[in-house]
Amino acid sequence: MRTAFFTLLAATALAQTPRPGVNYDESKVGNDPLPDLKLTTAEEWTQTRRPEIVKLFEDHVFGKTPANLGAPKFEVTATKPDALGGIATRKFIHISLPAYPAWPGMDVMLYTPNHIKRAPCFVGLSFGGNHAVSQETDIPLNTRWMRESKEKNIVDHKATEATRGTESSRWALEMILKRGFAVATAYYGDIEPDHADGWKDGLRAAVSKDGANTVWKDGEWGAIGAWAWGLSRIADYLQTDAQVDGKHLAVIGHSRLGKTSLWAGAQDERFGFVISNNSGEGGAALMRRDFGETTAIITKAFPHWFTPKYASYAGNAAACPIDMHMFIALAAPRPIYIASAAEDHWADPKGEFLSGKFAGPVYALFGKKGVMVDEQPAIDTPVGDFVGYHVRTGKHDVTDYDWKQYLTFAARHWGR
Ligand code: GCU
Repeated sequence: MRTAFFTLLAATALAQTPRPGVNYDESKVGNDPLPDLKLTTAEEWTQTRRPEIVKLFEDHVFGKTPANLGAPKFEVTATKPDALGGIATRKFIHISLPAYPAWPGMDVMLYTPNHIKRAPCFVGLSFGGNHAVSQETDIPLNTRWMRESKEKNIVDHKATEATRGTESSRWALEMILKRGFAVATAYYGDIEPDHADGWKDGLRAAVSKDGANTVWKDGEWGAIGAWAWGLSRIADYLQTDAQVDGKHLAVIGHSRLGKTSLWAGAQDERFGFVISNNSGEGGAALMRRDFGETTAIITKAFPHWFTPKYASYAGNAAACPIDMHMFIALAAPRPIYIASAAEDHWADPKGEFLSGKFAGPVYALFGKKGVMVDEQPAIDTPVGDFVGYHVRTGKHDVTDYDWKQYLTFAARHWGR
């Protein structure tokens, strides 16, 4: 997807010159100053400044999530007590909104470790559906819209048998469960299909009074807002499940879903640990740095992810009242982890590090330490106390190496 888009971009750039190229030269990233965090005290941050910054992100980047869409309904549709060779219990839970039956709902897959009574839980959406996350072959195939892909065996926008397990390398299920953590996941396209008109078949149209005729205005939510809302509904369910410790939830996401996990963690403080895996532009990467993907590129390629206003900062990031150190700071004083990959230049690894570093003063207000280093650390050298960071060898992906760091970090902060 990323490569395809990049090729397309390069082709467009050739065909439609003049168009500024993508910058990968550190000496040309620009030096516009970051917006001031305006720090006073921890109390003032919590009471006033933090809500102001959440509102800035609503107004300028992701749009506002509708406050109350009514109580979600949870139906446990299947339970398998001896999943993954007996180490886990697997459940499927259908979450729907009785007040808005036009939304088809989402199917959550929950694995809980059998050797722990109430396990802390990682919560994250997948790109390919539950049957792609796990190698177990008795998982119902997701039937919702998926991006056409020969390589990924998506045919006529539907998953096929051959898509089973194709995302499993990104979900180290055995490792996570054996370490005593649970995993809850759902397909992001259950909430809203990921294409420009996807919202018409998803949550946003279902709950909007103009339905599929809605004209989205500045400050109204985009797809990332809808996906983040879905993560919070999974958190709602997890409060009711006796096998999960609902007070210890970590929200995790990769790439566009890393932008989503950051936004979910910013809005929902029940996520006690927030993880951004290679989230890049619109996620952890500072928007004022012109390196790799930019606001101009992302809002052109994926306008449906954001509130319309965000596109007005294309080519003019310096005019935006937020930058992503403020996004990371919204997790404070909770632990957060930002992961980059060395070859993932598109996501601007250094920009991802710097947002974590510059969120540090907010953690300091609470007497907590952030990344604890001034410079981006060497490859495969994790750093940080309450703001964890690493840049791992390799490409844009989620690997066992990434999970090992998240598990160690969670265990340290949660005393496991
Ligand atoms: C594209 C997009 C990124 C995004 C990525 C992904 O590359 O430009 O912003 O993070 O897709 O979600 O895989």
